Amino acid sequence: MLNLKLTSPSYCKLGFADIDCILTIEERVYTHPWTRGNFTDSLLSGYAAFGFRDSEHELFAYFFVMPILDELHLLNFAVDSPYQGQGHARLLIDKLFEYALEQGYVSILLEVRRSNERAIAIYQKAGFAAIGVRKGYYPAHDNQREDAIVMRRAC
Ligand SMILES: CC(C)(COP(=O)(O)OP(=O)(O)OC[C@H]1O[C@@H](n2cnc3c(N)ncnc32)[C@H](O)[C@@H]1OP(=O)(O)O)[C@@H](O)C(=O)NCCC(=O)NCCS
Repeated sequence: MLNLKLTSPSYCKLGFADIDCILTIEERVYTHPWTRGNFTDSLLSGYAAFGFRDSEHELFAYFFVMPILDELHLLNFAVDSPYQGQGHARLLIDKLFEYALEQGYVSILLEVRRSNERAIAIYQKAGFAAIGVRKGYYPAHDNQREDAIVMRRAC
């Protein structure tokens, strides 16, 4: 039997009213989650945020993007744990590219932790190519730092 809660996500623009829900997901899926201040500042800066809601209108995936001239910078991208492994990241990347094309951006840039093999594989499948490394870009366990792989794809 089809599980409609999982198979019929609706795509929506996100705003301040979504931050509590986003924070719950963020703290579940990231070792070093963004804070409420990070999300509030992003929205106050006018950065776009979109996501998927399930059939009960619960948010379960989101992305935040920042424009830099003609390039879109992917700041945050997540799918809530119970919804992972079902192709939602791929669908959300499709939406990301739709948005970038509609808005006239020529490319999308992102950073991803070197250890995040799953996300790197998803981005590669979506056509992103590694273009560089930012040494020690992310905080890591025990006061260590972790490199970011920088990836880009033309729209
Ligand atoms: C990364 C993330 C967005 C993926 O979301 P998802 O909905 O589970 O992804 P999908 O189901 O669309 O795709 C999963 C794919 O990853 C592959 N995969 C799973 N684990 C993997 C691993 N360890 N290494 C490589 N590929 C892996 C699956 O085989 C699948 O590939 P397929 O589409 O060819 O079948 C999600 O795990 C997440 O939110 N993680 C925490 C936040 C995060 O890391 N965000 C990215 C920051 S840059």
